[in-house]
Amino acid sequence: MRDTITILGLESSCDDTAAAVVRLQGGRGDILSSVVHGQTALHADFGGVVPEIAARAHVEKIDLCAEEALVQSGLTLKDMDAIAVTAGPGLIGGVLAGVMCAKGLAAGSGLPLIGVNHLAGHALTPRLTDGLTFPYLMLLVSGGHCQFLIVQGPDQFTRLGGTIDDAPGEAFDKTAKLLGLPQPGGPEVERAAQDGDPARFAFPRPLLDRAGCDMSFSGLKTALLRARDAIIAEKGGLTEQDRADLCAGFQAAIADVLAEKSRRAIADYMALAPDAPVLAVAGGVAANSTIRAGLETVCATAGLRFVAPPLALCTDNAAMIAWAGIERFRLGLFDGMDLAARPRWPLDRSQPSMLGSGKKGAKA
Ligand code: KG4
Ligand code: ZN
Repeated sequence: MRDTITILGLESSCDDTAAAVVRLQGGRGDILSSVVHGQTALHADFGGVVPEIAARAHVEKIDLCAEEALVQSGLTLKDMDAIAVTAGPGLIGGVLAGVMCAKGLAAGSGLPLIGVNHLAGHALTPRLTDGLTFPYLMLLVSGGHCQFLIVQGPDQFTRLGGTIDDAPGEAFDKTAKLLGLPQPGGPEVERAAQDGDPARFAFPRPLLDRAGCDMSFSGLKTALLRARDAIIAEKGGLTEQDRADLCAGFQAAIADVLAEKSRRAIADYMALAPDAPVLAVAGGVAANSTIRAGLETVCATAGLRFVAPPLALCTDNAAMIAWAGIERFRLGLFDGMDLAARPRWPLDRSQPSMLGSGKKGAKA
């Protein structure tokens, strides 16, 4: 097997246009460059990602991003071993922009093309950052994803469960909106919750009464809306304290659900008797300190190591796509010019797709 593999990765499945160069050398991965151009400002007026606007912005930026990533790495296309690109799941216009750019680069340079599942990119990141060995348990929690996966190999994933409606980040963002806080809502709700009483409102812990690891977060947002409206009806408006208590109650409910479902996922995972058991997280919501503390406690109790890659690698980026490309390269998994862009692409092919589809794309 080759000792050194260098790959240019492209990502454009949601609202970040990204390119990165990652090199495997001496058994470990190095990020030589990672460029991310976010689109938050373009979508700010619309309360969510507008697929058509996102797609156009990706088309305008993706090749520039690739060039920037190569320049920053100090390398050229000639130094690459392959081009890896997110081929799904995600907003189809954006995915197409990336796939077409990657095909153009591959055709022009003669390099092999590797289509990467965006969720596999997230799920394999702890191998790049922390050198994890298989199998490990992964909780993906972001604005578009929420699922538990046992990662058994670069192309081998078992989904234990996931959200059947909203992703937690989406619920945080909607909560912020309902309370008049700015977007993205997660950090704002977390800040407001610091001065709040999590016990003042009895928010539900959805699906805890049901066996398994599936989750639901949309009812929580409705409960918050009702609580908010009851206060407004009674007092004519919300005080800072009301807002803080609502945020704290909401955050505690999400943290409890994720902790309890993690306990169950861990039980399933431990049945595989892993040598060095690990729960790894990815996604922007993993930045929340109450949620993180809950997961850390669960891991400590169950005897697992808790791994959280740096936030820039937990959120959408192309280094994770280049790394997943390296993992596929090592297995000889290449694609042809018939590589398709896919809006839905479940990682665990033995299971049906999850139902919901968040504002940030499919949660397949
Ligand atoms: O992974 P990410 O950057 O993008 C995707 O969704 O793909 O995650 C963004 C989400 C947003 O919904 C944001 O509100 C949420 O992560 N988030 C947080 C926090 N920081 C970001 N949610 C809760 N607490 C936080 N501190
Ligand atoms: Zn993502």
